[in-house]
Amino acid sequence: MPASPWTRASARDRSKVMVVSVHSFDDHEVPARRLAAALDLLWRPISARRFPDGESLVRVVPRKGAAVVYCPLDHPNARLVDLLLAASALRDAGAGPLVLVAPYLCYLRQDAAFHPGEAVSQKVLAGLLSDAFDRVVTVDPHLHRTHDLNSVFSIPVAQLSAAPLLGAAIAGDNPGEDVVLIGPDAESQRWVEAAARANAFSWLTGRKMRRADRAVEIEIERLDLVRGRIAVLVDDVVSTGSTVRKAARLLLEAGAARAELYVTHMLASEEDTTALRAAGIARIVSTDSVFHPTNAVRLAPLLASALRCEPGC
Ligand code: R5P
Repeated sequence: MPASPWTRASARDRSKVMVVSVHSFDDHEVPARRLAAALDLLWRPISARRFPDGESLVRVVPRKGAAVVYCPLDHPNARLVDLLLAASALRDAGAGPLVLVAPYLCYLRQDAAFHPGEAVSQKVLAGLLSDAFDRVVTVDPHLHRTHDLNSVFSIPVAQLSAAPLLGAAIAGDNPGEDVVLIGPDAESQRWVEAAARANAFSWLTGRKMRRADRAVEIEIERLDLVRGRIAVLVDDVVSTGSTVRKAARLLLEAGAARAELYVTHMLASEEDTTALRAAGIARIVSTDSVFHPTNAVRLAPLLASALRCEPGC
């Protein structure tokens, strides 16, 4: 059995364990196999048969020992129940500890009840996953008031960032060009800064007011700095695309030579992606955290490094 030592330090089990297999549903076979290959582990399919009434019959390949379940949580309402059933089946078969690798984690925005009667979705998600798994590994979680998911989950959560990979991709795609990175809102500053740092890019961030799901207003100070330069938008997540579409328009109106977009989690529909290109975004690059035709940056090496080392490293 290939050796991938992985130490857990949760309350449930403080012993050294060996991760022996990576499991995923069929639609994540390609990135899950990449992760398994990076760790020199076996990949095993999880099947889900849908009954006419909408219920699922989930079946795993039984394994004993520590196991990774790879499952990005875009389209969360459809995925969550199947994921919880898979975790239960693995435990029943003797697998454990179980680590969930969810490069994209859902339901993180709603970290408080903003109006009476609202569910605090982040807390509910954390409770479900903490009960089902022993550790979570994720990338660029979309956090607002919560700064560390370890304060919400009762199991260790490794929060990785794809920003350095995006920075390297921007540099590689624009050799010798005069590039300026733009974060469209205050939250994006940490990603823009991290992507800029290793490549000595200059960067700016804007200020965003969201009026509705698809209506945002953005202000960017010192927009004159983009004139004649390649303006690259960097963000953690693109959902409807309203934010980066509005930002791209401002950059091009200010005389940017070209607008590009590099993003960790590209959730935009085909129609919304077409609208981004129509708005003048010449290049769109995303990581493979969720499947999208713009995927170009692979996360498997980053995820594998988190599984090889101590929690928190
Ligand atoms: C906001 O905090 C995020 O960083 C994104 O800018 C936002 O979630 C994108 O949403 P949309 O694409 O729907 O504007």
